[in-house]
Amino acid sequence: MQTTILGRTGLEVSVVGLGCGGHSRLGMTHGKDEKHATRIVEYALDQGITFIDTARAYRTESAVGHAIKGKRDRVTISTKSLVAGRGDLLSGAEIVESLEKSLARLQTDYIDVFNLHGVTAPQYPRCVNELLPVLDKQKEAGKIRFLGITETFVRDPSHKMLQLALPDDYFDVVMVGFNLLNPGARHTVFPLTIKNNVATQIMFAVRRALSQPDALAEVVKQLVESGELEAALLDGPAPLGFLENHDDVASIVQAAYRFCRHEPGATVVLTGTGSEDHLRENIESVLTEPLPGEVMHKLNELFGSVDSISGN
Ligand SMILES: NC(=O)c1ccc[n+]([C@@H]2O[C@H](COP(=O)([O-])OP(=O)(O)OC[C@H]3O[C@@H](n4cnc5c(N)ncnc54)[C@H](OP(=O)(O)O)[C@@H]3O)[C@@H](O)[C@H]2O)c1
Repeated sequence: MQTTILGRTGLEVSVVGLGCGGHSRLGMTHGKDEKHATRIVEYALDQGITFIDTARAYRTESAVGHAIKGKRDRVTISTKSLVAGRGDLLSGAEIVESLEKSLARLQTDYIDVFNLHGVTAPQYPRCVNELLPVLDKQKEAGKIRFLGITETFVRDPSHKMLQLALPDDYFDVVMVGFNLLNPGARHTVFPLTIKNNVATQIMFAVRRALSQPDALAEVVKQLVESGELEAALLDGPAPLGFLENHDDVASIVQAAYRFCRHEPGATVVLTGTGSEDHLRENIESVLTEPLPGEVMHKLNELFGSVDSISGN
């Protein structure tokens, strides 16, 4: 495993992070039980992963808690609380209650990175005014080491919330959607995170569009219809055929993780899966060298100005 420094937190973490949410939720979305989820986390730790991202909303914190028992000091845990319930922003007391539940489920007395989860641009000012002061107190009490914020990439594919938040510089870590179909963060997010040494957790490296051919076809159709992608640049019916057929690229999924890993400004690349085989493959992909120059050139030509889709 390769490690990196998590921006200005100074924490040393693996460059691959285990994402315990997404469509898989460690397999629990597809009927696997908590024991299976725990085994995936244990397997990740055995492979050298030391960064784990979970959330109250994913219902995978307990599995993480079981897996890290006795190994807490070797792992950096990121978890989150949603900021709104049924439309209304949570109160300070409610966010503290969420933090306490996370601590109990993770069987720990501190969270390394506590994130405000899926914040939209309209919610952001109230998060700062009403929730940040409360979380700062939890930091002083030692329950939180660093604060983070995550965007909702599906609804905010052009990173409006992060563009509002990053100049304020309240958060040490941000989670941002970034992939080879929508590399917009390169222009709007990474310049700001790099400037202030804010660490990034990369989400949506693969998601559905880069792991399921039908979903990819749908996204490409959408981009052609919206005029963001020039149909004439596509060779034939397989939009990413040039990737799959390249001698130095094993698969679209492999390319997708390599693409993220080598982007200046990407700190930890998250991978979410319910399968040990996929996890092993994905770690190898993240650790593979950058994509060949001509592949990067073609990807840039096709998707370089896309900022309207997430690949969900
Ligand atoms: N707003 C937020 O805060 C937010 C939103 C979304 C996600 N996140 C975080 O970001 C993490 C990463 O997102 P993600 O889980 O969507 O990760 P991802 O790595 O982009 O995509 C994972 C999806 O691809 C499939 N997959 C993974 N490896 C594969 C392989 N080798 N071959 C074929 N299919 C493969 C997985 O299914 P299998 O189970 O079959 O492998 C899963 O459905 C989440 O787990 C979560 O921690 C945060």
